[in-house]
Amino acid sequence: MKSDFQTVFGRREFLRLASLAACAAPLRGFAYDPIPALNVRKVSVSIGVDEPFSILHVSDSHIARIDSRDGESTYAFAKSRSRNGRELGEYYLGEAIHYARAKGIKVIHTGDFMDFVSVANIEHAARRIRTDGIVACVGNHEYWLDAGKKEIESYKEATIPKLKDEWKGVPASTVRLGGVNFFVFDDSFRAVTEAIAAAFEETVKEGLPIVMVCHVPLWTEDVGLNKGASCGVHGRKDDAVTCEFVERVRREPLVRAVIAGHLHGFRQFAFSDHAQELVAGALFNGDCTEIEFTK
Ligand SMILES: [Fe+2]
Repeated sequence: MKSDFQTVFGRREFLRLASLAACAAPLRGFAYDPIPALNVRKVSVSIGVDEPFSILHVSDSHIARIDSRDGESTYAFAKSRSRNGRELGEYYLGEAIHYARAKGIKVIHTGDFMDFVSVANIEHAARRIRTDGIVACVGNHEYWLDAGKKEIESYKEATIPKLKDEWKGVPASTVRLGGVNFFVFDDSFRAVTEAIAAAFEETVKEGLPIVMVCHVPLWTEDVGLNKGASCGVHGRKDDAVTCEFVERVRREPLVRAVIAGHLHGFRQFAFSDHAQELVAGALFNGDCTEIEFTK
């Protein structure tokens, strides 16, 4: 019985195509999967500006450079961190920068620019931040020096001098874009200090709409956040300053958005009556968010 294909193309053409397909079949063993294109999710946030503007929100590139200037223990640590798929962080960082440049918009990176502390990582990240005008805040991995030890305050103290010229928000700073104050701060260890809380009050006094820029999402009840991956969770030990800060931010009507990362998956939810919280997906997976701020 003739198939539909044979009916349409005729027997001779059918046989020709069938033999071509048979010849090509062994070549499939040599094929590779193309890298998926950058996935830019578009979100609009009402913030009260007369002239709308956009930014590209990226997070968690986890670049993993290492070279001969880094010692053996750093090399062993880097090797232990090898993960399938994560090697694409640097590729997608380049793609995101090209995308933003073509649109004439700013890149804001909410931390874990690099996977671990190495001379090569810091040098490359700092050069990209500087030459591409990226606003970057710190994540927990910006302070990660040793495989077995995470979130060690002394590691943070040792690394801060190497980051502070290029990264913003070490521990807090304000970047003004399009008539909005972007308050960039370090909550990478899921906590903030009194100095950060005081800096926030100074920004509030300027009276402009505020976007909070940090790595770890600010805790919000009943939206399905993981308590272990949030900042300002009620009832956790020794975090009274942090809980008070997060609730103060929630009450502040000038705060119109919070942008964060850390979860490696996109999230959007109401942080308060006046503010959306947007968590970017992982850039090493090719995910990022173009946010348009509107009236
Ligand atoms: Fe993180």
